[in-house]
Amino acid sequence: MKNRTAECRVVVVGSVNADLLARVARRPGLGETVIGQSLTVSPGGKGANQALAAARTGADVALVGAVGDDEYAAGALSLLRDSDTDLSAVASESTSTGVAVITVGPDGDNSIIVIPGANGTVGREAVARHAGLIAGAAVVVVQMEIPRDGVEEAARLATGRLVVNYAPVVPIDPDVLRRADPLVVNEHEAAAAASLLASGSPDAAPLAVGTEADCAQALIEAGVRSVAITLGERGALICDGPGRPIVPIPAIPVQAVDTTGAGDAFVGALAAALADGFTLEDAAGMATSVAAYSVQRPGAQASYPSVETTL
Ligand code: RIB
Repeated sequence: MKNRTAECRVVVVGSVNADLLARVARRPGLGETVIGQSLTVSPGGKGANQALAAARTGADVALVGAVGDDEYAAGALSLLRDSDTDLSAVASESTSTGVAVITVGPDGDNSIIVIPGANGTVGREAVARHAGLIAGAAVVVVQMEIPRDGVEEAARLATGRLVVNYAPVVPIDPDVLRRADPLVVNEHEAAAAASLLASGSPDAAPLAVGTEADCAQALIEAGVRSVAITLGERGALICDGPGRPIVPIPAIPVQAVDTTGAGDAFVGALAAALADGFTLEDAAGMATSVAAYSVQRPGAQASYPSVETTL
Protein backbone atom coordinates (compact mmCIF):
# COMPACT_ATOMS: atom_id res chain seq x y z
CA MET A 1 0.00 0.00 0.00
CA LYS A 2 1.18 3.54 -0.71
CA ASN A 3 2.10 5.84 2.12
CA ARG A 4 -0.06 8.90 1.57
CA THR A 5 1.67 12.25 1.63
CA ALA A 6 -1.30 14.64 1.81
CA GLU A 7 -2.92 15.52 5.13
CA CYS A 8 -6.28 13.76 5.07
CA ARG A 9 -8.16 14.14 8.32
CA VAL A 10 -10.70 11.39 8.94
CA VAL A 11 -12.81 11.64 12.10
CA VAL A 12 -14.59 8.46 13.20
CA VAL A 13 -17.43 8.84 15.72
CA GLY A 14 -18.23 5.46 17.21
CA SER A 15 -17.75 2.50 19.49
CA VAL A 16 -14.74 0.99 21.23
CA ASN A 17 -14.97 -2.61 22.47
CA ALA A 18 -12.92 -5.40 23.91
CA ASP A 19 -13.61 -8.43 21.70
CA LEU A 20 -13.88 -11.75 23.55
CA LEU A 21 -13.56 -14.08 20.60
CA ALA A 22 -14.19 -17.83 20.95
CA ARG A 23 -13.38 -20.20 18.10
CA VAL A 24 -15.77 -23.14 17.95
CA ALA A 25 -16.11 -26.18 15.72
CA ARG A 26 -19.87 -25.83 16.05
CA ARG A 27 -22.13 -23.24 17.68
CA PRO A 28 -24.22 -24.47 20.64
CA GLY A 29 -27.95 -24.93 20.17
CA LEU A 30 -30.51 -23.72 22.70
CA GLY A 31 -29.72 -25.16 26.14
CA GLU A 32 -26.57 -26.87 24.84
CA THR A 33 -22.93 -26.57 25.97
CA VAL A 34 -20.07 -27.14 23.53
CA ILE A 35 -16.32 -27.17 24.15
CA GLY A 36 -14.59 -24.32 22.31
CA GLN A 37 -11.15 -24.31 20.69
CA SER A 38 -9.64 -20.99 21.86
CA LEU A 39 -10.45 -17.64 23.44
CA THR A 40 -8.72 -14.37 22.62
CA VAL A 41 -9.28 -10.89 23.99
CA SER A 42 -8.42 -8.19 21.48
CA PRO A 43 -9.33 -4.60 20.54
CA GLY A 44 -12.56 -4.15 18.58
CA GLY A 45 -15.72 -2.09 18.21
CA LYS A 46 -16.94 -0.90 14.83
CA GLY A 47 -15.81 2.70 15.42
CA ALA A 48 -12.35 1.77 16.69
CA ASN A 49 -11.91 -0.84 13.94
CA GLN A 50 -12.80 1.66 11.24
CA ALA A 51 -10.49 4.27 12.74
CA LEU A 52 -7.61 1.79 12.81
CA ALA A 53 -8.26 0.62 9.24
CA ALA A 54 -8.20 4.26 8.08
CA ALA A 55 -4.98 4.94 10.01
CA ARG A 56 -3.31 1.74 8.81
CA THR A 57 -4.08 2.72 5.20
CA GLY A 58 -2.36 6.06 5.64
CA ALA A 59 -4.97 8.54 6.85
CA ASP A 60 -4.56 11.07 9.63
CA VAL A 61 -7.35 9.92 11.99
CA ALA A 62 -9.13 11.04 15.17
CA LEU A 63 -11.68 8.96 17.09
CA VAL A 64 -14.60 10.35 19.12
CA GLY A 65 -15.86 7.77 21.61
CA ALA A 66 -15.54 6.45 25.16
CA VAL A 67 -14.07 3.62 27.19
CA GLY A 68 -14.73 2.63 30.79
CA ASP A 69 -12.46 2.63 33.82
CA ASP A 70 -11.96 -1.16 33.93
CA GLU A 71 -9.26 -3.64 32.94
CA TYR A 72 -10.39 -3.68 29.29
CA ALA A 73 -9.95 0.05 28.57
CA ALA A 74 -6.21 0.21 27.85
CA GLY A 75 -6.15 -2.91 25.68
CA ALA A 76 -9.17 -1.75 23.67
CA LEU A 77 -7.20 1.35 22.60
CA SER A 78 -3.74 -0.22 22.34
CA LEU A 79 -3.48 -0.67 18.56
CA LEU A 80 -5.01 2.76 17.93
CA ARG A 81 -2.33 4.27 20.20
CA ASP A 82 0.37 2.41 18.28
CA SER A 83 -1.01 3.80 15.02
CA ASP A 84 -0.81 7.42 16.26
CA THR A 85 -4.57 7.87 16.02
CA ASP A 86 -5.68 11.02 17.87
CA LEU A 87 -7.52 9.69 20.95
CA SER A 88 -7.96 13.05 22.71
CA ALA A 89 -11.74 12.86 22.06
CA VAL A 90 -12.07 9.39 23.62
CA ALA A 91 -13.55 9.91 27.10
CA SER A 92 -12.84 7.72 30.10
CA GLU A 93 -16.15 7.11 31.89
CA SER A 94 -16.92 5.58 35.30
CA THR A 95 -18.45 2.46 33.84
CA SER A 96 -17.40 -0.66 31.95
CA THR A 97 -15.71 -0.64 28.56
CA GLY A 98 -17.89 -1.97 25.73
CA VAL A 99 -17.51 -5.72 25.25
CA ALA A 100 -18.32 -7.91 22.25
CA VAL A 101 -18.82 -11.64 22.77
CA ILE A 102 -17.98 -13.23 19.43
CA THR A 103 -18.08 -16.82 18.21
CA VAL A 104 -16.22 -17.74 15.03
CA GLY A 105 -17.04 -21.04 13.34
CA PRO A 106 -14.84 -23.20 11.09
CA ASP A 107 -16.05 -21.34 8.00
CA GLY A 108 -14.72 -18.04 9.43
CA ASP A 109 -18.23 -16.62 9.87
CA ASN A 110 -19.05 -14.94 13.15
CA SER A 111 -21.96 -14.09 15.42
CA ILE A 112 -21.66 -11.21 17.87
CA ILE A 113 -23.36 -9.93 21.03
CA VAL A 114 -22.36 -6.38 22.04
CA ILE A 115 -22.70 -5.01 25.58
CA PRO A 116 -22.31 -1.25 25.00
CA GLY A 117 -20.93 -0.12 28.38
CA ALA A 118 -19.20 3.27 27.92
CA ASN A 119 -20.31 3.44 24.27
CA GLY A 120 -23.76 4.20 25.67
CA THR A 121 -22.45 7.57 26.95
CA VAL A 122 -21.54 8.81 23.45
CA GLY A 123 -24.82 10.64 22.90
CA ARG A 124 -25.62 14.11 21.57
CA GLU A 125 -23.91 16.09 24.34
CA ALA A 126 -20.74 14.02 24.30
CA VAL A 127 -20.45 14.31 20.52
CA ALA A 128 -21.24 18.04 20.53
CA ARG A 129 -18.19 18.59 22.79
CA HIS A 130 -16.09 17.80 19.72
CA ALA A 131 -18.02 19.96 17.26
CA GLY A 132 -14.87 21.70 15.97
CA LEU A 133 -13.00 18.44 15.35
CA ILE A 134 -15.97 16.92 13.49
CA ALA A 135 -16.73 20.06 11.47
CA GLY A 136 -13.08 20.34 10.43
CA ALA A 137 -12.80 16.79 9.07
CA ALA A 138 -12.52 16.03 5.36
CA VAL A 139 -14.41 12.80 6.01
CA VAL A 140 -16.61 11.90 9.00
CA VAL A 141 -17.45 8.23 9.56
CA VAL A 142 -20.35 6.93 11.68
CA GLN A 143 -21.79 3.51 12.49
CA MET A 144 -24.63 2.50 14.84
CA GLU A 145 -23.06 1.17 18.06
CA ILE A 146 -23.44 4.45 19.99
CA PRO A 147 -26.75 6.11 20.96
CA ARG A 148 -28.90 7.25 18.07
CA ASP A 149 -28.70 10.93 19.04
CA GLY A 150 -24.89 10.74 19.03
CA VAL A 151 -24.90 9.50 15.44
CA GLU A 152 -27.45 12.14 14.43
CA GLU A 153 -25.38 14.91 16.06
CA ALA A 154 -22.20 13.77 14.31
CA ALA A 155 -24.04 13.78 10.97
CA ARG A 156 -25.41 17.24 11.72
CA LEU A 157 -21.98 18.64 12.62
CA ALA A 158 -20.13 17.15 9.63
CA THR A 159 -19.30 19.66 6.92
CA GLY A 160 -17.05 17.30 4.96
CA ARG A 161 -17.99 14.01 3.32
CA LEU A 162 -20.16 11.79 5.54
CA VAL A 163 -19.58 8.01 5.37
CA VAL A 164 -22.44 6.14 7.07
CA ASN A 165 -22.09 2.44 7.89
CA TYR A 166 -25.64 1.35 8.78
CA ALA A 167 -24.48 -1.43 11.11
CA PRO A 168 -26.03 -2.73 13.21
CA VAL A 169 -29.51 -1.89 11.90
CA VAL A 170 -31.26 0.39 14.42
CA PRO A 171 -33.93 3.10 14.18
CA ILE A 172 -32.27 6.37 13.05
CA ASP A 173 -33.33 9.65 11.47
CA PRO A 174 -33.64 8.75 7.75
CA ASP A 175 -31.90 12.04 6.92
CA VAL A 176 -28.64 10.54 8.26
CA LEU A 177 -28.88 7.88 5.54
CA ARG A 178 -29.85 10.44 2.89
CA ARG A 179 -26.76 12.53 3.73
CA ALA A 180 -24.49 9.48 3.42
CA ASP A 181 -21.84 9.77 0.71
CA PRO A 182 -21.59 6.82 0.61
CA LEU A 183 -23.96 4.69 2.65
CA VAL A 184 -21.98 1.47 3.26
CA VAL A 185 -24.16 -1.60 3.89
CA ASN A 186 -24.20 -5.35 3.40
CA GLU A 187 -27.17 -6.95 1.60
CA HIS A 188 -29.33 -7.22 4.75
CA GLU A 189 -28.53 -3.70 5.92
CA ALA A 190 -29.26 -2.39 2.42
CA ALA A 191 -32.77 -3.87 2.52
CA ALA A 192 -33.35 -2.47 6.04
CA ALA A 193 -32.11 0.96 4.93
CA ALA A 194 -34.50 0.88 1.97
CA SER A 195 -37.36 0.00 4.37
CA LEU A 196 -36.36 2.80 6.74
CA LEU A 197 -36.28 5.35 3.93
CA ALA A 198 -39.63 4.17 2.57
CA SER A 199 -41.52 3.85 5.84
CA GLY A 200 -39.54 5.53 8.64
CA SER A 201 -38.86 2.16 10.34
CA PRO A 202 -36.08 -0.38 9.63
CA ASP A 203 -38.41 -3.06 11.03
CA ALA A 204 -41.13 -2.44 8.46
CA ALA A 205 -41.83 -5.34 6.09
CA PRO A 206 -38.81 -5.58 3.77
CA LEU A 207 -39.34 -3.88 0.44
CA ALA A 208 -39.41 -6.09 -2.62
CA VAL A 209 -36.26 -4.55 -4.09
CA GLY A 210 -35.10 -7.56 -6.15
CA THR A 211 -31.36 -7.84 -6.75
CA GLU A 212 -28.65 -5.99 -4.85
CA ALA A 213 -28.31 -3.68 -7.86
CA ASP A 214 -32.05 -2.92 -7.65
CA CYS A 215 -31.60 -2.23 -3.94
CA ALA A 216 -28.72 0.19 -4.64
CA GLN A 217 -30.92 1.91 -7.21
CA ALA A 218 -33.83 2.11 -4.74
CA LEU A 219 -31.54 3.71 -2.13
CA ILE A 220 -30.34 6.34 -4.60
CA GLU A 221 -33.94 7.04 -5.70
CA ALA A 222 -34.87 7.45 -2.01
CA GLY A 223 -32.34 10.29 -1.78
CA VAL A 224 -29.10 8.65 -0.58
CA ARG A 225 -26.15 10.51 -2.16
CA SER A 226 -24.09 7.43 -2.99
CA VAL A 227 -24.06 3.75 -2.03
CA ALA A 228 -21.53 0.94 -1.51
CA ILE A 229 -23.01 -2.53 -0.91
CA THR A 230 -20.48 -5.09 0.37
CA LEU A 231 -21.14 -8.64 -0.81
CA GLY A 232 -18.49 -10.63 1.06
CA GLU A 233 -16.80 -13.14 -1.20
CA ARG A 234 -18.69 -11.68 -4.17
CA GLY A 235 -16.99 -8.27 -3.84
CA ALA A 236 -19.08 -5.11 -3.72
CA LEU A 237 -21.07 -2.78 -5.87
CA ILE A 238 -21.25 0.99 -5.85
CA CYS A 239 -23.44 3.72 -7.25
CA ASP A 240 -22.00 7.23 -7.16
CA GLY A 241 -25.27 9.15 -7.28
CA PRO A 242 -28.45 9.70 -9.30
CA GLY A 243 -28.06 8.87 -12.97
CA ARG A 244 -24.72 7.11 -12.39
CA PRO A 245 -24.23 3.43 -13.23
CA ILE A 246 -24.19 0.60 -10.70
CA VAL A 247 -20.57 -0.58 -10.84
CA PRO A 248 -19.52 -4.05 -9.61
CA ILE A 249 -16.25 -4.14 -7.65
CA PRO A 250 -14.69 -7.57 -8.26
CA ALA A 251 -14.00 -9.88 -5.36
CA ILE A 252 -10.46 -10.97 -4.50
CA PRO A 253 -10.60 -14.77 -4.03
CA VAL A 254 -9.07 -15.70 -0.66
CA GLN A 255 -9.48 -18.41 1.98
CA ALA A 256 -11.33 -16.76 4.90
CA VAL A 257 -10.33 -17.81 8.42
CA ASP A 258 -12.19 -15.06 10.33
CA THR A 259 -14.50 -12.42 8.86
CA THR A 260 -14.75 -10.42 12.13
CA GLY A 261 -14.19 -6.74 11.37
CA ALA A 262 -13.86 -7.22 7.60
CA GLY A 263 -16.72 -4.80 6.97
CA ASP A 264 -14.98 -2.27 9.23
CA ALA A 265 -11.71 -2.75 7.31
CA PHE A 266 -13.65 -1.90 4.14
CA VAL A 267 -15.25 1.22 5.67
CA GLY A 268 -12.01 2.56 7.20
CA ALA A 269 -9.94 1.99 4.06
CA LEU A 270 -12.70 3.52 1.93
CA ALA A 271 -12.81 6.63 4.14
CA ALA A 272 -9.02 7.02 3.95
CA ALA A 273 -9.03 6.77 0.16
CA LEU A 274 -11.96 9.20 -0.18
CA ALA A 275 -10.18 11.69 2.09
CA ASP A 276 -7.20 11.35 -0.24
CA GLY A 277 -9.34 12.33 -3.24
CA PHE A 278 -9.93 8.96 -4.90
CA THR A 279 -13.22 8.34 -6.71
CA LEU A 280 -15.76 6.11 -4.96
CA GLU A 281 -15.07 3.33 -7.48
CA ASP A 282 -11.29 3.42 -6.93
CA ALA A 283 -11.71 3.78 -3.16
CA ALA A 284 -14.03 0.75 -3.09
CA GLY A 285 -11.47 -1.27 -5.06
CA MET A 286 -8.78 -0.46 -2.48
CA ALA A 287 -11.19 -1.14 0.40
CA THR A 288 -12.04 -4.56 -1.07
CA SER A 289 -8.32 -5.46 -1.07
CA VAL A 290 -7.96 -4.41 2.57
CA ALA A 291 -11.05 -6.42 3.60
CA ALA A 292 -9.76 -9.47 1.67
CA TYR A 293 -6.41 -9.18 3.50
CA SER A 294 -8.17 -9.01 6.88
CA VAL A 295 -10.35 -12.13 6.48
CA GLN A 296 -7.22 -14.26 5.99
CA ARG A 297 -6.10 -13.46 9.55
CA PRO A 298 -7.81 -13.91 12.92
CA GLY A 299 -9.52 -11.11 14.83
CA ALA A 300 -10.64 -7.64 13.83
CA GLN A 301 -7.96 -4.96 14.29
CA ALA A 302 -5.10 -7.44 14.55
CA SER A 303 -5.93 -8.62 11.01
CA TYR A 304 -5.58 -5.21 9.32
CA PRO A 305 -2.63 -4.46 7.04
CA SER A 306 -0.17 -1.71 7.90
CA VAL A 307 0.88 1.17 5.69
CA GLU A 308 3.96 -0.87 4.67
CA THR A 309 1.91 -3.93 3.59
CA THR A 310 1.87 -4.81 -0.10
CA LEU A 311 -1.65 -6.01 -0.90
O1 RIB B 1 -17.70 -5.33 13.16
C1 RIB B 1 -16.99 -6.13 14.06
C2 RIB B 1 -17.07 -5.55 15.42
O2 RIB B 1 -18.41 -5.61 15.85
C3 RIB B 1 -16.29 -6.31 16.48
O3 RIB B 1 -14.97 -5.84 16.61
C4 RIB B 1 -17.14 -6.13 17.73
O4 RIB B 1 -16.54 -5.34 18.71
C5 RIB B 1 -18.45 -5.52 17.25
O5 RIB B 1 -18.53 -4.20 17.54
